[in-house]
Amino acid sequence: MPADFRQLPSWQTLAKLAGNRRLASRDDELSILEPMSLGGLTVDMAKQLVSAEEWHSLLRLAEESNLQGAIERQFDGTFENRSEGKTVQHVRLRTPLASDEKLNDEVETERERMLDFAEGVRDGSLRGHTGRPISTVVNIGIGGSHLGPQVLVNAFPTSTIDVRFLANIDGLTLERTLRRLDPERTLVIVASKSFSTLEALENAGAVKSWFIERGAEGAIARQFIAVTERLDRAVAMGFSRESCFRLWGWTGGRYSIWSPIGLATAIAFGAPFFRAFLAGARKLDEHFRNADLADNLPIRLALTALWNSEFLDRGVHLVLPYDSRLAEIPTYLQQLELESNGKRVTADGDDIAGHTVPFIWGGEETNGQHAFHQFLLQGTRRFSADFVAVRTAPTRYDSHHRWLLANCFAQSEAMRFGNAPDTPPHRRVPGGTPSTTILFNELDAESIGAFLAMYEQKVFCLGHLWQINSFDQWGVELGKTLAEPIYEALAGSPTASHPATEPLIARIRNPGRD
Ligand code: F6P
Repeated sequence: MPADFRQLPSWQTLAKLAGNRRLASRDDELSILEPMSLGGLTVDMAKQLVSAEEWHSLLRLAEESNLQGAIERQFDGTFENRSEGKTVQHVRLRTPLASDEKLNDEVETERERMLDFAEGVRDGSLRGHTGRPISTVVNIGIGGSHLGPQVLVNAFPTSTIDVRFLANIDGLTLERTLRRLDPERTLVIVASKSFSTLEALENAGAVKSWFIERGAEGAIARQFIAVTERLDRAVAMGFSRESCFRLWGWTGGRYSIWSPIGLATAIAFGAPFFRAFLAGARKLDEHFRNADLADNLPIRLALTALWNSEFLDRGVHLVLPYDSRLAEIPTYLQQLELESNGKRVTADGDDIAGHTVPFIWGGEETNGQHAFHQFLLQGTRRFSADFVAVRTAPTRYDSHHRWLLANCFAQSEAMRFGNAPDTPPHRRVPGGTPSTTILFNELDAESIGAFLAMYEQKVFCLGHLWQINSFDQWGVELGKTLAEPIYEALAGSPTASHPATEPLIARIRNPGRD
């Protein structure tokens, strides 16, 4: 097998087929991919730009690159994250892996401990320091320690416990989050895999001081919980071991929603909810591991994404949820896809001759239709899209829901097929944009588990096809390092800064007048 998958015969064929597609006008053809249903999801790819010959070559690429071998290594627990000296095992959090049964048991024990704790908070057997039941949870954490719980809390707005998130290092957000909190009835979760992330630690310190200022020192021991790999750091900061839940080093932050990072959601919705969420993901994992390449949902998503971005020159990918309960999905997928596959060298450190992941963006619909869809329908940039909707209405406002669905399907149709070629230029919508529509049958714990796992596995397949390490994120370190001396300079110390930043620092320190 060539060291670079771009040298594989199927990759070369795909490049030729893409060239042919550019010359021929075939935008009216439906894709050959039939809809598939699994785990409460229907995935419809009729609006992709995939002919039988193209699909056949994409499947050959999966075979020639030995994607199946990579999948097997994932389920054995031996897939490597070399730059961090780890194996990739987050799937173990929901699906026992073939290697190390003892570790499967340890994961289950920690999960049960976490779920018992969540149930205790819910049923009032675990209370605040003055004996009053917990009414609010504040989840302090950023990135993977925030986005997964936020997706779930937003998707199921039925909790009797108020869950608030404190992610950013922004004093105003901090103030707003603390506003109207009752220190006797608030549980604080400090969620940080590394327990060294600036935002999490600064916010945790500020919230702790807020409790103390209100004479609630007694709450610190009872109402502050840590979720982390670095139990040592949490204990050094005053958390007792009993108030810590464990993450393992082999769980990347953006893959951690299946772990005790989900504690806030388990408290909000209960242990049965969390178990069903894991069961949905497990169902998807079983499918991913066992289904043929051609009928494998994550592989379909990955191969069409590769085709669109690599061969059909789509540098942008939109995620468009037509349901406010799914409004946080684009942000979640931004971290999952971009932090995983936003890489420029292979896992061996060689430059990549081409592109990797397209930029992911999107937002709650139909709001976007009245903001940026003009650009999507008549602008000059090329993109692909995932439309996401739920079949059933969550309220008695059935016609609202039917309008959401009608708009969802209409937009994918407009983007794909446009209008008649003889339409006057200013009204002409050329179409030609490939998209997938993912329909939840009902939005429940199991289906959202399957949905998030499906995207995780898509990202895994793409990382393999691009030959990159999807499980590190070294790029984010530079900014963190640079921010430290700048912070010191802003605080008044005579630290030297980059000449391009110096004037801004001077402006902050000496505001003067305009
Ligand atoms: O800076 C990026 C990152 O490391 C993400 O990968 C991670 O999800 C986030 O920061 C938070 O990290 P931690 O959970 O260690 O606080």
